[in-house]
Amino acid sequence: MPVCVLVGMQWGDEGKGKVIDLLTDRADVVARFQGGHNAGHTILFDGKKFILHLIPSGIFRSGKLCVIGNGVVIDPAAFTEEVCALEKAGFKLDGRLVVSDRANIILPYHSISDRKKEASCNTKIGTTGRGIGPSYADKIARVGLRACDLVDESKLKDLMQENFDEKKRILKNLYNQDVPDFEKIFDELLEHRETILRFIGNTQALMRDVINDGKSILCEGAQGTMLDVDHGTYPFVTSSNSTAGGACTGLGIPPNKIDRVIGVVKAYTTRVGEGPFPTELHDADGDQIRKEGDEFGSTTGRPRRCGWFDAMVARYAVAVNGIDAIVLTKIDVLDQMDTLRICTGYKTGGKVVTEMPASLSAIEQAEPVYQDFPGWKQKTSGLETFEQLPDNAKRYIEGLEKLIGIEIALISTGPDRTQSIIKKDLI
Ligand code: GDP
Ligand code: IMO
Ligand code: MG
Repeated sequence: MPVCVLVGMQWGDEGKGKVIDLLTDRADVVARFQGGHNAGHTILFDGKKFILHLIPSGIFRSGKLCVIGNGVVIDPAAFTEEVCALEKAGFKLDGRLVVSDRANIILPYHSISDRKKEASCNTKIGTTGRGIGPSYADKIARVGLRACDLVDESKLKDLMQENFDEKKRILKNLYNQDVPDFEKIFDELLEHRETILRFIGNTQALMRDVINDGKSILCEGAQGTMLDVDHGTYPFVTSSNSTAGGACTGLGIPPNKIDRVIGVVKAYTTRVGEGPFPTELHDADGDQIRKEGDEFGSTTGRPRRCGWFDAMVARYAVAVNGIDAIVLTKIDVLDQMDTLRICTGYKTGGKVVTEMPASLSAIEQAEPVYQDFPGWKQKTSGLETFEQLPDNAKRYIEGLEKLIGIEIALISTGPDRTQSIIKKDLI
C-alpha cells in the first residue's frame, strides 16, 4: 500500500481539500505536513460544507486516522475552535487525530507582528495575517515553543517569558506597538493547551509504524508549489516548503518511502495576495471566472485574482514535486467561456524562456505565449464519466495533458465529493 503526497501545483486553493476527502476512501491515514491556519480546505458532502484550516481533510471519513505533523505551525486558539466545531457537528475525534509533539506553536504576538510588518513595509506580501511567517521565523531561529513544551506548566512559563520579552521589545521599538499582558496571553494558552494535549503524540514514530504495517498514507499539502518558500515566487510566498519534499521533513517520512506524488491543478489559475502572476486577467473574462468559480478566499474572504491556465507553472510543478499523476479541478467553471487560452510558455525580450526564472522582475516581465481553444458552452458540472464531456472540453483537457506532459487521472466537475470523473485509480 503506498505513501502518496498530494500537493497544489499553482498558488494554492486548487481544490486539495475536496480531492483529499475523496481519496481518503482508499487511504488509512491522512497527514498534514506544513503550513498552519493560513490554509482553507473546503469539503462538501451530503449537502454540508466544511472549511478546514488545520485538521486534515480526511477527518470526515470514519475510521481514518488524521495526523498533524511536526512541520505544521499550530495556533492553539484556532486549533481549539476547529476541534470544537467538528465535535459540535457530531464528528468523533478522540483516537482519530494525533498532533505532533514537535510542531511549533503560534502565539498572539506572532500574528500582531505579521500584521504590523505588512502594514508598515513597502513590499507587502498580502499574508493571511495569521502569524505564519513570524512563527516559522522563531522555529528557524530556534526560539519557538513546541507542542511538547505545553506539558510542563512551569517550564512552559519560563520558555514563553523569554520569547515574549524579546517580541515585546521588538514590537515596541520597531512599530511602537504594545502587546497584551504576559499573564493574559499565558492564561489563554493554558486554556487552549488542554485541547492540544488531548491529541499530542510522537507522529514520526506513528508514521514509521503505519508504513511498516503496510498501511497507506495520504500526505496533505497546504498552499501550492508557487507559494513554496524555496521554489515559489519569493518573497511573495508562504514560509514553509509546500512542495513534495516538505512531506519528508514535515512528517519524518524517509524520502525512499514515498511511492507517489499527486498534483492538484485548477483548469485556470488563481492567486490571493500580492506577487507576480503572468497570466492574470483584468477584464470581463477574469470577472466571469471569479464569479463562476466563486473565487473568494476560504480563509480571509479576499477576492482571488484570476487568470488563464499557465502550463509553464504546471510543468515547473511537475519537475519540482516529481508529480506522477494530476487531478484537474473546476473544469465546470469554464462551461460558459467562448474561448479558452492556455499559456504554453513565456517570452522575455523576444526570447522564449525555458526555465522558471528566479528573479521577480523576470517573471513580471515575462510575456505569456498563448494557445487558444474553443469553449464548449455546455454544462459539465456533476458529470461522472469522461465520455459524457463535450468534445471541446475533452480537447482542452487533452491539450493540457500534452502541454504538461503528465496524464490527468481525475477530473473534478463540482465541489461535491461525488462530482468527479475518475479516469485512473490514484491510490
Ligand atoms: P484548497 O485550499 O486547495 O483545498 O481549495 P479551497 O477549498 O480553498 O478552494 C477551492 C474551492 O473550489 C472550494 O470552494 C471548493 O468547494 C471548490 N471546488 C473544488 N473542486 C471544484 C470543482 O471541481 N468545481 C467547482 N465548481 N468548485 C470546486
Ligand atoms: P490553501 O492551503 C492560497 C498566501 C497568502 C499570501 C502568502 C503568504 O488553502 O491552498 P501567509 O499568511 O502564509 O504568510 O501568506 O501566501 N496563502 C495562500 N494562498 N491558498 C492558501 O492555502 C494560502 N496560504 C497562504 O495569501 O499571498
Ligand atoms: Mg484554500
